[in-house]
Amino acid sequence: MSFLEEIKRRRTFGIISHPDAGKTTLTEKLLLFGGAIQEAGAVKNNKIKKGATSDFMEIERQRGISVATSVLAFIYKDKKINILDTPGHKDFAEDTFRTLTAVDSVIVVIDVAKGVEVQTEKLVEVCRMRQIPMIVFINKLDREGKDAFDLLDEVEQKLGLRVTPLSFPIGMGYDFKGIYNVWGKKLNLFSGDVKQTISEGVEFEDIDNSELDKAVGETAANILREELELVREVYPKFDRTEYLEGHLQPVFFGSALNNFGVKELLDCFIDIAPSPRPKQADIRLVNPEETKMTGFVFKIHANMDPKHRDRLAFVKIVSGMFKRNTNYLHVKKNKKFKFASPNAFFAEKKEIVDISYPGDIVGLHDTGNFKIGDTLTEGENLQFKGIPSFSPEYFRYVNNADPMKSKQLAKGLDQLMDEGVAQLFTLELNGRKVIGTVGALQYEVIQYRLEHEYGAKCTYDMLNVHKACWVQPEDPKNTDFKEFKRVKQRYLAKDKKGQLVFLADSAFSVQMTLDKYPTVKLHFTSEFG
Ligand code: G4P
Repeated sequence: MSFLEEIKRRRTFGIISHPDAGKTTLTEKLLLFGGAIQEAGAVKNNKIKKGATSDFMEIERQRGISVATSVLAFIYKDKKINILDTPGHKDFAEDTFRTLTAVDSVIVVIDVAKGVEVQTEKLVEVCRMRQIPMIVFINKLDREGKDAFDLLDEVEQKLGLRVTPLSFPIGMGYDFKGIYNVWGKKLNLFSGDVKQTISEGVEFEDIDNSELDKAVGETAANILREELELVREVYPKFDRTEYLEGHLQPVFFGSALNNFGVKELLDCFIDIAPSPRPKQADIRLVNPEETKMTGFVFKIHANMDPKHRDRLAFVKIVSGMFKRNTNYLHVKKNKKFKFASPNAFFAEKKEIVDISYPGDIVGLHDTGNFKIGDTLTEGENLQFKGIPSFSPEYFRYVNNADPMKSKQLAKGLDQLMDEGVAQLFTLELNGRKVIGTVGALQYEVIQYRLEHEYGAKCTYDMLNVHKACWVQPEDPKNTDFKEFKRVKQRYLAKDKKGQLVFLADSAFSVQMTLDKYPTVKLHFTSEFG
């Protein structure tokens, strides 16, 4: 197969949802259809169960699982599908945001009874801003839920999407009869007794056909005809270009648990979802078809085994072919590295691979050279954009609780921050270190991992910070900026990259600062300009 054909057949995507909407179940069913696993239940996802806050062993176990399920790849109808796993737990939201920089499209799972939930809103907003093509899957149709039209309205209003149903349910919950697949013009009947069977569906070019009445009953058939009429009148016609540009989102209905509607989703997905897309770097747009290899690190995973301290850096290949034992430039470090055992990921295992193509993810063994966002090239000095740090929500001072282990603590903190577990800020005034996280759970994870992986102990002190604001002076030499630095000295810190950050204690203080120092810009993410 040629290089171009290899690119064209790749589909790299993520599934996002509010916890419990059915992301894990859907992932598993996609693997089942892809023939990558033989039975449901074989893959457990990267899911921190509710109530795991104090159960460190559970967190550790989950971390182990999450390496295996970080990337799930399989072949379906000759397409190479890479599913990038995203943790649903809100305390790991930053991890999910970073993973979204490496996907070419997403599937959004929504629970038919719960509708659009908080976490879905946040994640979809990120995808919308980046114009990532999205398909919506409304799940759990075997249960009583909201009316399909009401749900479509909710999706449009709360998520700001423009939807077009490509399948439509016949009844719901107790009365759930099946799904009409608008895309494939097929009817799939749901059988409550044999829920695990996969039916191929009956084809209906024309829904006025009386066979439809026989299949679902006259009443249900008439309701379906009316509803499909309404769908045609109210919703825009599917247009692939609009979908690819992020302006139109097709919707599917189904029940992942019952294998229902999943095949329709997958068949349509491989037809319409994009192959690897061009990616913006600081100096230019990089196209997947370019022959020179480029890629970037979007995730780093520490080894759970304390005897093997190496980490796995996950690299998304943007262009060219990534080859084993070949020298690549680590642009930030301006140093060449070659990798003897790059890993490729399959459904349940990882394997050493000789060549990877754009859209693929390779896992590189790393002894501490990689940070999230680092770019690899064949020599060109370019850096991919789009992996900013967001302002954390929680801030605490970190103290060394064992003076004999200060080196271990520094190293542990350094590496955990590289992994993107949290962000470290060093106060300008006294050099005290502050850890910022998106969820309270991370403080416990950090404490636990420092002790078990690095032999260091830490304690925390509370600190009142509302937001971390990255500072951008119009002119570092002007008096405005000098005055800002003098007055706000107590609140200034450096992030890990040495960028200046203002740790504002209230929204009011942010506003006051903006008013008082008009030439000093404040940003809530680390990437600007
Ligand atoms: P998540 O990854 O999005 O957090 O959700 P997950 O797939 O774990 O699904 C959450 C719960 O919803 C699970 O039940 C799962 O079995 C159920 N579920 C998923 N899809 C469907 C569906 O189509 N219909 C129905 N009725 N239920 C569905 P659980 O009891 O919380 O977990 P488990 O013990 O079954 O694993």
